[in-house]
Amino acid sequence: MNKLSKILSFVSISLLILTNVQAQDWNITAEQKDMKLGVAYTEDIQDAGNTIFKKSCKMCHGDVNIATTNDRELPLAPNLGATDWQGANTDGEIFTKISNGKGGMPPFSGSLSDDDRWKIVAFIRSSYSDYTPPVTDATADTKPKTPKFEGEIKDIEATYDDELNSFIVRIIAVDADGHPAKAQGIKLDFFVKRYFGDMALFEGERSNEDGEVIIEAGKLKADKDGNISIIARTSDKAITSEKTITIGYAKVWDNPILGRNIWGTSGRTPLWMLISYLVFTFGTLLVLGWAAFQLLRIHNLRER
Ligand code: HEC
Repeated sequence: MNKLSKILSFVSISLLILTNVQAQDWNITAEQKDMKLGVAYTEDIQDAGNTIFKKSCKMCHGDVNIATTNDRELPLAPNLGATDWQGANTDGEIFTKISNGKGGMPPFSGSLSDDDRWKIVAFIRSSYSDYTPPVTDATADTKPKTPKFEGEIKDIEATYDDELNSFIVRIIAVDADGHPAKAQGIKLDFFVKRYFGDMALFEGERSNEDGEVIIEAGKLKADKDGNISIIARTSDKAITSEKTITIGYAKVWDNPILGRNIWGTSGRTPLWMLISYLVFTFGTLLVLGWAAFQLLRIHNLRER
């Protein structure tokens, strides 16, 4: 092959691949499209789907339940919480797209079981209020959903209960008529405040029938001053509340520089090593200074 034909074949092969990628379609059969949700549509299943989603999908697709903010890492990967997209896709279509992939979307039929992929579909659907699970054998033990809280969340209040040794995180809400109400089933995320960013504790924890989430302080580690700062946030990040308590015991951090560490200087260095180090350092500086001085002298002699 001469050079030109090599180049030509390279160009045509590249073009072929390029057009192929662009012309690619999801290629979903009518049968696949008609597939119905293959797992029960319960909060447990949706939460399990959320866990898998966080591990395998979130890095590209971002959060699903927030249609208002775009926190996607990869702009090409669509926000799967968007209501128009949810409305335009059947359960079977979503499942098949996850299974087979396309372009930048990897296929998951090999790495996730059918059950796990359906759980993800259930999770994606949980953010879509117009969704009603189909009635099939698989969804037979679907419990009725906790009635969706129709009121408005005003605030989150975090307090500490000495007797329970627990944080009580209460959602302050009003019902449709503006009367104070207990907001059940609202998802909250919890973090512990740290110097470098916040450490996620629990995500998607749902409030109980009193509109509260109770978190045992004993399970949490305090910082070196004995403080525990807990941050509660609604899962849509709209409302945040922070509460700090000081517990009696402070965690004492060992300084890794001290003690056995060979690089430790303070306290551990033998005197002879310290003296030789200083003599060597200042000796070197002295020699360098002397050399510079001699050079200057030679320079001055030449000038004269
Ligand atoms: C490496 C990044 C990446 C990962 C990981 C990823 N996706 Fe995707 N996904 C994409 C991209 C890019 C597209 C758009 C593909 C296209 O339209 O050609 C996409 C498309 C989709 C679609 C179809 C959207 C439409 O246009 O109808 C669904 C559904 C989907 N992804 C679900 C998932 C799920 C569920 C997971 C985890 C199991 C996942 N994705 C993991 C990048 C990713």
